[in-house]
Amino acid sequence: MDYFYESLIRPIVFKLFRDAEKAHDQSLSALKLLSRFRPAVSLMEHFNMKNGHLPPQRPIEVFGLKFPNVVGLAAGFDKQARVWPALGALGFGHVEIGTVTQQPQPGNEKPRVFRYPQKEAVVNSFGFPNDGADVVAERISKLAWRGKGKRDFVLGINIGKSKVCPLDKAVEDYLASFKKLAPLADYMVVNISSPNTPNLRELHNHEQLYTLLSELQHENRAYAQKTGGKALPLLLKIAPDLTFPQIDAVLEVVSDTKISGLIATNTTVTRPADMPGVVTKGGLSGAPLFEKALDIVRYIVRATDYKLPVIGSGGICSVEDVDRYLAVGASLVQIYSGMIYRGPFFASEIAKAYAWNQTDIPHAGQEWGR
Ligand SMILES: Cc1cc2nc3c(=O)[nH]c(=O)nc-3n(C[C@H](O)[C@H](O)[C@H](O)COP(=O)(O)O)c2cc1C
Repeated sequence: MDYFYESLIRPIVFKLFRDAEKAHDQSLSALKLLSRFRPAVSLMEHFNMKNGHLPPQRPIEVFGLKFPNVVGLAAGFDKQARVWPALGALGFGHVEIGTVTQQPQPGNEKPRVFRYPQKEAVVNSFGFPNDGADVVAERISKLAWRGKGKRDFVLGINIGKSKVCPLDKAVEDYLASFKKLAPLADYMVVNISSPNTPNLRELHNHEQLYTLLSELQHENRAYAQKTGGKALPLLLKIAPDLTFPQIDAVLEVVSDTKISGLIATNTTVTRPADMPGVVTKGGLSGAPLFEKALDIVRYIVRATDYKLPVIGSGGICSVEDVDRYLAVGASLVQIYSGMIYRGPFFASEIAKAYAWNQTDIPHAGQEWGR
């Protein structure tokens, strides 16, 4: 299937849609149609992808959630929660919606996505275009048949800072999005690592990060108490451009605020020496990011003695790449750029490869920092 996609479909799609954002919009339209047609989604799940899911009695348990397989869709593909049911049907064990911001915003100027097929890389400078937390929450709620407890994949929601909100008001902005969206999610992600919102990455600083995460955890626990449920797993998505001492500082905050884990990593602002013509604005993802993101995952897992769950994200283009993330101690992985180059069935290919040997996957525990 992948050979068919890479040799036949991909060249046509890339030629027809030289503008990578248009190609993305087209695939969203197709998936949107599918998402609305419940029997088609169910049929697809049943006939096509189910064999990549683990038996329900033997899932992967991370952050107290049960994941049907190791592979998730990274944030940025379904920014606006338009197609997530169909993405679940494509075989993803978890799907992360977003990044969603409190305020609706158009994002940065176009063109803002560029493909580099020879390097299997992508550069984007989207800047979180989305309809805002209210509208996105309504959209998710409308798909009630895919509500909490009714889906066989895990749904994450990734939130970021609205562009118009000054950095010193970021906490209120994130809190407003959290309140709207957390009731609809299985886990929440705090994105402070996009390079496309001015100054956002400054939130990695110890003091600002501590305030942000402790306020969100406070709200998280208060909501759980009010509803008699459990606090949601809260994850932080970090940048690949941090130094190890900067990562140590982040880990201290993670421990102090007792959030559930990290997603490592987002896109990089650095450019490889062998890609001289690449656009300088925006974040680079895909194959050239792989070793950098892997190094960071390895560092975090060792620094936390395998006890802090980490989702590895960056440059996964093959099952072997997944092997390497799991070997350094990632609990789960996420893909995005790899799907552009390997096609829509890449997730199910990965899931199937791991469906029969899950016991070999090292899992990070839940004890670190407690
Ligand atoms: C076009 C594009 C848009 C993205 N948008 C977001 C986003 O809105 N929020 C986010 O947290 N990450 C976003 N990302 C980063 C991905 O979620 C992922 O962490 C990163 O691309 C590394 O994985 P990959 O190499 O498999 O693509 C985006 C990536 C791409 C390629």
